[in-house]
Amino acid sequence: MTEAQPIASLLGDTTGDAGLRTWRVGDAPALLAAWNDPEIARWNGVPPEPSVELATKWLTGASRQTTGSPSVDVVLVDDSDEILGEIGFVIDRQRQVAEVGFWVGGAHRRRGVGSRLLTAARQLAPALELERAFAISETENEAAIALLGACGWPEVATTTSKRRAFLLPAPKPA
Ligand SMILES: CC(C)(COP(=O)(O)OP(=O)(O)OC[C@H]1O[C@@H](n2cnc3c(N)ncnc32)[C@H](O)[C@@H]1OP(=O)(O)O)[C@@H](O)C(=O)NCCC(=O)NCCS
Repeated sequence: MTEAQPIASLLGDTTGDAGLRTWRVGDAPALLAAWNDPEIARWNGVPPEPSVELATKWLTGASRQTTGSPSVDVVLVDDSDEILGEIGFVIDRQRQVAEVGFWVGGAHRRRGVGSRLLTAARQLAPALELERAFAISETENEAAIALLGACGWPEVATTTSKRRAFLLPAPKPA
């Protein structure tokens, strides 16, 4: 693997999206709000007892992520730096395979934020040197499955009827 770079150094160049940035320790209230969002808590892994302290601890790690980290998470913000949503990779470095996770804050859904996050994942993936990445959704998560379909992520077979898997496509041509 090439030398690890801070994620922040990639965002301007690889995504061309000024609204993407890394998490900061000061984002604890926004992260806590996301953990307390019922839809995010239902479909994404969130701590059983969310708190500002826990959010601050998690953010301290996330703010130091590099292209070599086992997890890479970035947020999409609006003009006033409000966090609209997150896209993240959980990476198995040995296999160079990742699972892509994402969420959009409750007040910002159905405005194209999820689509922008999935595009950002496609643009970021090459810098993470992955062989493949997948988004895996519970079968009942109609919004996530509709979003992945709308964004053209091809579905691949799983060994369970409880979850559906979608392959991260190649980066969008500039
Ligand atoms: C799934 C989620 C990320 C979608 O984000 P979003 O910003 O609302 O998605 P977009 O606005 O980009 O939607 C793009 C398209 O996806 C489809 N879509 C998105 N949400 C949908 C929903 N609730 N029902 C049906 N289709 C939906 C539509 O085709 C939509 O286009 P349209 O709005 O023009 O009809 C959001 O609902 C969310 O955060 N849910 C909770 C967390 C979660 O489920 N994470 C995924 C775990 S696998």
